[in-house]
Amino acid sequence: EWTMESFIEAEVQKIREQVGERKVLCALSGGVDSSVVATLIHRAIGDQLTCIFVDHGLLRKGEVESVVDTFSTKFHMNFIKVDAAKRFLDKLAGVTNPEEKRKIIGNEFIRVFDEESAKLKGIDFLAQGTIYADIIESGTATAEVIKSHHNVGGLPEDMDFELIEPLKALFKDEVRNVGKELGLPEDIYNRQPFPGPGLGVRVLGEVTEEKLNIVRDADYILREEIALAGLDRSIWQYFAILPGIKSVGVRDGKRSYDHAIGLRAVHSSDGMSADWARIPWDVLEKISSRITAEVDHVNRVVYDITAKPPGTIEWE
Ligand code: XMP
Repeated sequence: EWTMESFIEAEVQKIREQVGERKVLCALSGGVDSSVVATLIHRAIGDQLTCIFVDHGLLRKGEVESVVDTFSTKFHMNFIKVDAAKRFLDKLAGVTNPEEKRKIIGNEFIRVFDEESAKLKGIDFLAQGTIYADIIESGTATAEVIKSHHNVGGLPEDMDFELIEPLKALFKDEVRNVGKELGLPEDIYNRQPFPGPGLGVRVLGEVTEEKLNIVRDADYILREEIALAGLDRSIWQYFAILPGIKSVGVRDGKRSYDHAIGLRAVHSSDGMSADWARIPWDVLEKISSRITAEVDHVNRVVYDITAKPPGTIEWE
């Protein structure tokens, strides 16, 4: 009989046999797949695993802390956090094209990871959170690339490591169950999809620290209220975007000229098509009034009611 426990047991054995006394490196993004793979390998070989977590400064509020808490404090892994936010911001300065931003973020990620891994000696293996869907997707050549869907954590193939991919045969739901069984916190194993380039494609146009802070704070309020309304497990993906549009408003009897925030929440099964979520009005109202009250420089909130197609889920 196939159970999560028997899967974990069998993989732990396999990893031990394959690795022996040698060392494994893992690029941890904080997403479900890389978190589960790191935890599984750690279960198998403990300190022979080293994880590198590149903080590119484009994660959501609370995510960096959650990753550090989980892997460093709770699991006591060999855990290296690289604070690279400034490097990414410098590279992104003045860049407005979405595909160019994706490329820059992906390349910079590889560069930072390369630099850090070069400091480590005697690593033979690289662990990757490849899952079944990744293999299927890369096998289908689409005629036209709509978005390059760069997945941060996707590393170049010319790295001198042997690959370990223990989740290769699993569906997303199974990966989440393995994560739960391994003792990961729910906010990690049940995490909603999040693009590799992160908030870099949710600040439309040029990315600046100020804009990142605005979208991060608005997004946090959205996530809090969606969870409070009990909708966090039924809506597939939900987030805030900063279109970079300023509009006129009024605050305390005075004219304001500030940012608009866009809210996006969709039902989907695989991200290929999607419908906008019918969030109850009163929940939307609470989100809107909290964002305009609590986030500086925002005086307007709009809700995206576009299906995919013709829209995409992200705005960039
Ligand atoms: P779109 O916007 O293409 O998004 O409808 C479909 C799903 O893919 C995610 N997405 C990305 N994921 N790198 C990723 O790893 C990317 O560059 C990227 N762009 C979009 C998006 O969040 C949604 O779940």
